[in-house]
Amino acid sequence: MADPKPIIFSGIQPTGSKHLGNFIGAIRQYVEGQDRGEPAIFCVVDLHSISVPYDPGDLRERVLDTAAILLAAGLDPERCIFFRQSDVREHTEMTWLLSAVTSHGDLDRMTQFKEKVGKARELASAALFYYPVLMASDVLVYRATEVPVGEDQRQHVELMREIARRFNARFGDTLVVPELVLPEVGARIMDLQEPERKMSTTGGTEQGTVLVLDDEKTIRKKVGSAVTDSGREVRAAPDKPGVTNLIDILAVARGTGRAEIEREFDGAGYGDFKKAVADGVVDLLGPVRERYEELRPDEAALEATLAAGAEKAREIAAATMVDVRARMGFG
Ligand code: TYM
Repeated sequence: MADPKPIIFSGIQPTGSKHLGNFIGAIRQYVEGQDRGEPAIFCVVDLHSISVPYDPGDLRERVLDTAAILLAAGLDPERCIFFRQSDVREHTEMTWLLSAVTSHGDLDRMTQFKEKVGKARELASAALFYYPVLMASDVLVYRATEVPVGEDQRQHVELMREIARRFNARFGDTLVVPELVLPEVGARIMDLQEPERKMSTTGGTEQGTVLVLDDEKTIRKKVGSAVTDSGREVRAAPDKPGVTNLIDILAVARGTGRAEIEREFDGAGYGDFKKAVADGVVDLLGPVRERYEELRPDEAALEATLAAGAEKAREIAAATMVDVRARMGFG
């Protein structure tokens, strides 16, 4: 018998502008997952964004920006469930219930929390500390089997797997232990200026971060000034993080692998190589930006899409909550 289709879930934050790392590491996988998943569920995680200082007047706008980017990139509400996290209240209820099987020590070990708070630990919101429990709830409340994300989310997915296992051991078999799904190439896209750091709108450099909505001129400028190294060879290697990152970006843009790119640019200088990378990124993101410009102004349509998605999501989440509540002795 053929394997049952996977239930796919992933979430994306509405904070800041989405960048090439998000696009290559995650958004591309969502689009590919739409026809594999049954269902494939994608969510703009506005509840997560309150874990850092934010402007309430701005939040709805950022959710709509992010929704329009995902739709422009190819999410099709007919083939997936696409919604706003705060519209489905089961996520928050599930967070509290799962906190019973999550230890303080688990959360204390999360490297993203440590990186984000730095020395200002005492001032960090409790929400930031709790972030991984909400994330576990997002996935477990749909009994998802696959979680497509970039490499930086590995530890959070490992924790949600552990939370599901513990819940099942303590209360009986109820939740599904989901699998981490990383893209083969591009699970960790690096900053173009500081290729030892991941590309990020919060922790990276502005010039080294290509935004999905950057225009062609900006993309060419950022890629053109990308840091390479003192050699000449277009070859992926640990001591060539800048070149390796550009090879990965071009491989994704062309839909090939590292080896093909290395072969094509064997003997070519960095100038020609960077020009090809810029062409590739322009071709990858240009159509998304154009489609975004068409979709973003129609806020009523975006809201209607998110509301319809929330209705479908709620139905699945509510059914899981009935089981979880019963197992835990409520109601
Ligand atoms: P967010 O919005 O920060 O990032 C969205 C996705 O982009 C990936 N990503 C990258 N991939 C490759 N290279 C990079 N430089 C890079 N930077 C970011 C992230 O791994 C992520 O997949 N915590 C999540 C949101 C979330 C979630 C969930 C994800 C909330 N609930 C449930 C999966 C399942 C986040 O911060 O996304």
